[in-house]
Amino acid sequence: MIFYFSATGNSRYLAQRIADGIGDDINDIAEEIKGDCRYHVEEGEKVGIVSPVYFYGVPTILSDFIGRMSFDGHPEFYLVLNFGTFPGTARDRFRTVMEENGHTLGQCFEVRMPENYVLMFDPPGREETESILNDADDEVERIIDILKSGKEESIITKNTLYRRMVSSFAYPFYRHGRGTRRFYADNKCMKCGKCVDLCPIGIIEMDGRMPSWKSSKCIRCCACINRCPHDAIQYGLSTRSRRRYKNPRV
Ligand SMILES: Cc1cc2nc3c(=O)[nH]c(=O)nc-3n(C[C@H](O)[C@H](O)[C@H](O)COP(=O)(O)O)c2cc1C
Repeated sequence: MIFYFSATGNSRYLAQRIADGIGDDINDIAEEIKGDCRYHVEEGEKVGIVSPVYFYGVPTILSDFIGRMSFDGHPEFYLVLNFGTFPGTARDRFRTVMEENGHTLGQCFEVRMPENYVLMFDPPGREETESILNDADDEVERIIDILKSGKEESIITKNTLYRRMVSSFAYPFYRHGRGTRRFYADNKCMKCGKCVDLCPIGIIEMDGRMPSWKSSKCIRCCACINRCPHDAIQYGLSTRSRRRYKNPRV
């Protein structure tokens, strides 16, 4: 059993490849969270969580899901984090959230994937994206080998003092920020309503046939901006000249 959350396809890609490699199935957290989040596991079964890193920490939809998920046995959890630049102390934050909810996190794997945080960065172009995905494929092969062999190994990057400092500075901006006031659709909007379907927490509605953000906060996943078929969703002025990203292999 593998759970994933994915706004632009990277986590989904990793989850599917790992599932294919070890003979498992994948479950979308954005769908699961609408249900009762209760699961049956065999004794000693491994349960994977595949998630993007947000602000060197845990996306709110992941902490909400971990807070609600329950099992009728004691699975062993492993975590596959993916990130665009560096993961900071995200794995430690995940471990804490798991422990606070009575779960123990075992192995961790960290995989670099193309950056999708279009509010701050320009996502990579086609060539760079392919190169990052090819490197990620090699990492996935290593992860599959480890999981199949039953070894307790992890693949993680080093937590330097700098990383710890940057992470503890940045994460509160995510926890307490995430305002939606600056999202809007520009004149390229074809009023197709795709953004309404894409929002994993369902806060976009068509208002007078234009998208409107109905909650003052969101999870900041950028699915609406990155996956709008007409590149019409913007965030203030910052996204106007930036590329959009979605995983080309999903
Ligand atoms: C709100 C937000 C915050 C992010 N923060 C980080 C970060 O702290 N470090 C990092 O390396 N990448 C960061 N990223 C990039 C994503 O973790 C990365 O592109 C990931 O592969 C996206 O996965 P997805 O396509 O499954 O949504 C962030 C992306 C978003 C949308």
